[in-house]
Amino acid sequence: MKIGIFGLGYVGVVNAACFTKLGHYVIGCDVKETKVDMLRKGKSPIYEPKVDELLMEALQSGQLSATTSVSEVINNAEVLLICVGTPSNSNGEVNLDFIYNTSFEIAKEIKSLGKEITILYRSTIPPNTLKTYIEPIFKTILKDEISLVALAFYPEFLREGKAVDDFFNAPRIVLGSDSDQLDKAKNLLAYNPEIPFYHTNPQTSEFVKYVDNTFHALKVAFVNEVYEVAKSFDVDVSTANEIFLNDRSLNISTAYLKPGLPFGGSCLPKDLRAIVAMAKSQNLKLPLLESISESNAHAMNRLEQLILKQNKSKIFFVGFTFKNYTDDYRESPILTIIERLIKSNYDVKFTDVDANLVNLRIDKPSLIKYYQESITEGIKCSDLIVVSKRYLVDVVKLNHDKKLIINCSRRTIEDNSIIHLF
Ligand SMILES: NC(=O)c1ccc[n+]([C@@H]2O[C@H](COP(=O)([O-])OP(=O)(O)OC[C@H]3O[C@@H](n4cnc5c(N)ncnc54)[C@H](O)[C@@H]3O)[C@@H](O)[C@H]2O)c1
Repeated sequence: MKIGIFGLGYVGVVNAACFTKLGHYVIGCDVKETKVDMLRKGKSPIYEPKVDELLMEALQSGQLSATTSVSEVINNAEVLLICVGTPSNSNGEVNLDFIYNTSFEIAKEIKSLGKEITILYRSTIPPNTLKTYIEPIFKTILKDEISLVALAFYPEFLREGKAVDDFFNAPRIVLGSDSDQLDKAKNLLAYNPEIPFYHTNPQTSEFVKYVDNTFHALKVAFVNEVYEVAKSFDVDVSTANEIFLNDRSLNISTAYLKPGLPFGGSCLPKDLRAIVAMAKSQNLKLPLLESISESNAHAMNRLEQLILKQNKSKIFFVGFTFKNYTDDYRESPILTIIERLIKSNYDVKFTDVDANLVNLRIDKPSLIKYYQESITEGIKCSDLIVVSKRYLVDVVKLNHDKKLIINCSRRTIEDNSIIHLF
């Protein structure tokens, strides 16, 4: 395939090198002459292992060229990769000026040539940028010829320093587009059948990149904070870290990473308070660890607000322990909300197949009168049902009057009467 690449920085050059390795022809384009000149000589304008060799091979086989002329690219390419910068403005928002300029110039050339072209944006852009910012640029210029372009977002996940290997063994490839002309894009991206491929809507594909980088930043800050505490207690940091990393079923895994209820139970809140107290005792200021409980409290408030917003007074909670398959209700977010609502005079009932009523009677004697053994009865006498555990399907089956349900469990089911927490 003939690929035009706009922006010859880290992303553009790595993509140029890797797509030529796959046998494609690449024409690179940048506003900076010096970068274009270097690429013309098969040299990389940035340092990245393996890229120089790949570019030189591509040059010698006639698969690589470069230009500053947009029309030369549009004339010669069937697919474009847009890899221009998207730096921060002083208020933290993303500056889309380079995206605008590139898109505008490309749209004008497509209009004058009347050529069909697939355009894949690789620059990191906020959700809905493709739909509400980029597409209108093309619509304004192409008008009723808008079907000449197939627009998509194709997030780049490379790590500098390992970018070439990351390209060929990407953990996943994501294509975000509502276009029905994606054959070229899909062919281009199907270069390794082992790599999971996701086709989703543009805004989802745009957002996943921010999730990744926010999580990476959180992890770096997190390990630096926890081991700062460790150092103060003469812990062997490298052994402690090796032990932490070795647990691939809970620590380094998908565990605790699905959005849902705030955390609760008898360990996480207590141990978090303990490590924050340890840090304080050593005069360590650890903003990340200190803010975790606050973040969780906000999540709890958001859930309470979601319930209150429905303006229903008879509320039935299905599940009140802190997670599935346990009778432990210590620091259960749902039980905390139940107690708050009872205090505010709501007509609350709750149930749970895992409940240990003997314990509840002893620990929280005033709550037991709100306990409702039968789910059917509870549903009948309520006008809002909050499901926090695995019984969503049962509740839906029993909810003959189609009362409003708030689903805080991680099960999903199509039903118009359900409001999902996530
Ligand atoms: N660097 C990374 O590791 C990485 C990883 C994933 C995603 N990204 C994202 O990819 C995008 C590019 O990142 P980068 O690090 O390669 O940026 P970069 O600043 O190294 O390169 C961007 C290039 O675009 C060129 N450019 C600007 N306007 C142009 C135009 N109108 N026509 C042609 N070229 C133009 C610039 O001259 C520059 O050479 C950013 O949105 C970034 O967030 C970067």
